[in-house]
Amino acid sequence: MCGIVGYIGDKEATSVLIEGLSKLEYRGYDSAGIAVYDNGGVHVRKYKGRLNVLAEHLKQETLTGVVGIGHTRWATHGEPSDRNAHPHTNVAGNIAVIHNGIIENYMKIKEWLIEEKGIEFKSETDTEIIAHLVDHYYEGDLLAAVNKAIEKMEGAYAIGVICKDEPDKIVAVRKDSPLIVGLGEGENFIASDIPALLKYTKQMYLIENDEVVLLTKDGVTIFNELGQQMDREIFHVTWDAEAAEKEGYEHFMIKEIHEQPKGIQETLLRRLDKDNNIVLDGIKLTKEDLENINKVYIVACGTAYHAGLVGRFAIEKFAKIPVEVDVASEFRYRDPFVDDKTLFIAISQSGETLDTLAALREAKRKGARILSVVNVVGSSVARESDDVFYTWAGPEIAVASTKAYTTQLIAMYLIALHMANTKGTLEREGYENIISDLKLMPEKVQKILDDYTKIQHLADAQFNNESVFFMGRGVDVNVAHEGSLKLKEISYINSFAIAAGELKHGTIALIDDGTLVIALATQDRLYEKMLSNIQEVRARGAYVVGVAKEGNTEMEKTADIVLYIPDVMDELSPILSVIPLQLVSYYIAVARGCDVDKPKNLAKSVTVE
Ligand code: G6P
Repeated sequence: MCGIVGYIGDKEATSVLIEGLSKLEYRGYDSAGIAVYDNGGVHVRKYKGRLNVLAEHLKQETLTGVVGIGHTRWATHGEPSDRNAHPHTNVAGNIAVIHNGIIENYMKIKEWLIEEKGIEFKSETDTEIIAHLVDHYYEGDLLAAVNKAIEKMEGAYAIGVICKDEPDKIVAVRKDSPLIVGLGEGENFIASDIPALLKYTKQMYLIENDEVVLLTKDGVTIFNELGQQMDREIFHVTWDAEAAEKEGYEHFMIKEIHEQPKGIQETLLRRLDKDNNIVLDGIKLTKEDLENINKVYIVACGTAYHAGLVGRFAIEKFAKIPVEVDVASEFRYRDPFVDDKTLFIAISQSGETLDTLAALREAKRKGARILSVVNVVGSSVARESDDVFYTWAGPEIAVASTKAYTTQLIAMYLIALHMANTKGTLEREGYENIISDLKLMPEKVQKILDDYTKIQHLADAQFNNESVFFMGRGVDVNVAHEGSLKLKEISYINSFAIAAGELKHGTIALIDDGTLVIALATQDRLYEKMLSNIQEVRARGAYVVGVAKEGNTEMEKTADIVLYIPDVMDELSPILSVIPLQLVSYYIAVARGCDVDKPKNLAKSVTVE
């Protein structure tokens, strides 16, 4: 959940590290630090707070060395503070370590280091043990010492290490936490994620699990678990740094909301041939494979989980296969019924969410076939899957997921339709109608986005509410959950979503004068029932914002305000109805003065349990 960067070359390391970290702040931002080899020693600067706190300090406390490592933290062990910030060092201060992940057996190692070696710990972190362990094994060869240290370490980690006595080296390791190497001319880099390095290079090595990397300014050597040197193909990044910048928008989130027509188009159109047939290049599921499958499990976290709920609806509706959806953190602890007749679908924007990855491994162990829907190319989830559907949303920087979600929906619809076609559960005419409607999605989403001022006004009037309810029926409930999550993530309003039919079983007790209720009513056959539910909450004083299809104007008689989405077949409405909810959340958060892109306590990529 933290971000790491390392640099070795001829440039001043400080500026490269700060630039890199600025692109990784989404991974954690409660403290930041760097260690640079300078003037014959390893010098550490680290401070609690956002990266700019560190950057300000570095204006006074200049470091001019050309080798260094940097870190942006999201606290797991020990509160956010200067002393818990990374890098961490050994007692002599000549070995510095940055770390993303968790060392699960750190207490045992810590006790041993205290009892046997009399080490006084400077922080409460698990990371500090790494510096002392490397020191313990160090006999003039940093690579050898790191190799010995990691033999003792259990857990998930990506680490970077530098040492005063070998200033021409960085040693890095990857185990279950992301790590890439950037390749330059006379300079090399490490980082947790590609955007950190795009300003400097587009040539990368994707580091595999259990690999150890030795970087000098002129070379990169990768070793596997057995210490054998590995060949690696260069991964050429095709998108540029611009794509990871704000391009004039006030926040990444609103920029990403506006990128949805393009993301949907990219994800959809490249998968359809000229006869409207679905071509899923990364998926090798044959008719026989599908016939062998008697159940689908969709597993994910957060927003991706909500995409999974819509995925269940689509697969059951079109392909007639029973589907279970689970949050990844629960899946593996309840001994799920998974076997070689199960298709396991993991959905993940980052492809690095630890719980999703762990669930995937559990399903694989039980014999399931693994299909993943992933945005980040080459990420762990993608690499460990049998089949991959890339969503092509482009880099998503804002913590609150928007464009990744809508492209995940497109992916799930295409997968469902592909299954339906292969199994023969959908008539061609029905299929063609769905594809025609899907193709219109980019322009329909654009239409909602163009009309944002109505939502802005609504947000300006309603931003002071401290609790908000979302409700819907049918597939609208799934979207209600995503709308509610979006709102609470970025505005800190206590919001939750319910199936409107459950209202009378408890939640209605909380409705009072002025309570904000957002009611989704996009399903034709459930529309009347939703109008009744709206009446019920309005009768108790609620202020109701309805979301309905254009033309369904009678809702204006029951709701206080109606946000319209373009007409669409019921099955595909989630792709449109989520857009006004994203905008409502965004503008409410802005009106409340919240840090929209970096909400408190949250991180974009959750690589710890
Ligand atoms: C975090 C992010 C969410 C995301 C979830 C799952 O909670 O803040 O936006 O939906 O992780 O992440 P993934 O990368 O697996 O989709």
